[in-house]
Amino acid sequence: MEKLVYIGMSADLIHPGHLNVINEGKKLGRVVIGLLTDTAIASYKRVPYLHFEHRKVIVESIGGVSEVIPQDTLDYTHNLQKLKPHYVVHGDDWKSGVQGNTRLKVIETLKEWGGELVEVKYTEGISSTSIQKALRDVGTTPQNRLKRLRRILAAKPCIRVLEAHSGLSGLIVENLVCRMDGQVHEFDAMWISSLTDSVTKGKPDIEAVDTTSRLQTLNEILEVTTKPMIFDGDTGGRIEHFCFTVRSLERLGVSAIVIEDKVGLKRNSLLPEQSSQEQDSIDGFCDKIRAGKNSQVTNDFMIIARIESLILGKTMDDAIARASAYIKAGVDGIMIHSKSKDAAEIFEFTRLYSLFPEKVLLIAIPTTYNSVTWIELKNAGVNIVIYANHLLRSAYPAMESTAESILKHGRSMEADENILPVQQLLQLIANNYDPS
Ligand code: SPV
Ligand code: MG
Repeated sequence: MEKLVYIGMSADLIHPGHLNVINEGKKLGRVVIGLLTDTAIASYKRVPYLHFEHRKVIVESIGGVSEVIPQDTLDYTHNLQKLKPHYVVHGDDWKSGVQGNTRLKVIETLKEWGGELVEVKYTEGISSTSIQKALRDVGTTPQNRLKRLRRILAAKPCIRVLEAHSGLSGLIVENLVCRMDGQVHEFDAMWISSLTDSVTKGKPDIEAVDTTSRLQTLNEILEVTTKPMIFDGDTGGRIEHFCFTVRSLERLGVSAIVIEDKVGLKRNSLLPEQSSQEQDSIDGFCDKIRAGKNSQVTNDFMIIARIESLILGKTMDDAIARASAYIKAGVDGIMIHSKSKDAAEIFEFTRLYSLFPEKVLLIAIPTTYNSVTWIELKNAGVNIVIYANHLLRSAYPAMESTAESILKHGRSMEADENILPVQQLLQLIANNYDPS
């Protein structure tokens, strides 16, 4: 009887290394590929470029592959116990790094029926990770970037988004990777905040920086990054203007706009004094949502309604009634905002929201209630956690202290130890921008 060979893979970007593993597997018997689902891949690294169904079609057509089945987790155990293969074949590059524990578990599981792990020499110089880097260097298109937010959200129950207010801060969100607990952590998308975009220009957050200028900053960030972007659309302005903004954002490849349910001259929601702030009527805001949804061109663009009830001292019932009405009006997400020091009112909202028969994405901005972790928010049903202003807030004190040090010492030597060396600054950009 022909022996059964199991090969687990992501196969997002097929390269000769994959074919080598499959060919080696074929020599041992009938090859079944356990193709990691999008969720399984997203549990430990970046969401794949290609959907599971597309990757499946590609792998099925590779010579030597008999069957492709989904592998729902990074852990092989479930599929191995179901199939009890004679062999598992894998490249030998997984001994260290994020897959180290997965490998040990495969060896343990195979022992149960005398199966064997066969490791094929890693194809030097080629890996999916290096191809991914090359792809990132190539960049993205507006259409791909726009779609990508929905795609990431389909693969992950909760994503983390960080504010960017310039090309340079965008590069931090784009490139920062933190390896922890056998997983690769990174921010999934960017938030272009009205607060930090305004403050960067030395202006208050009162919609004084007009849409043209906001789009200019946006463009600077989009030019040097590939991750999805969520646009802080303030109140959205007049309905007629909002429809134009939606179209402009779609054209640029922005994935979503958030509009807050306020009218008149808006001030930042985190200011203690909010008495001058007027909330829109439910009907008025629903009209705005509907107009925006009707004016968007793609199916992928999202309009997120931000509820200001808790900011303005209104009741939880008001916030819940608004969420329900905005969903009926066709919104793609609800952002519940709070300026409370703890997350109690947010958790009360999420508890009531979980009872809704019809739900959309739920978004939170834990700026004041900052002791809450994203995992706690995720467990409460939040899908998008936005860190809305932290890069700018960290840059300002650093810049101020450098300026002060130069004045104080009459020279810049003392400041140097806390700032980026010029060579590193040059390298930073050289690494991200190769004009050749
Ligand atoms: C922003 O970042 O501009 C926001 C969030 O709208 S907040 O500052 O909390 O209002
Ligand atoms: Mg704002």
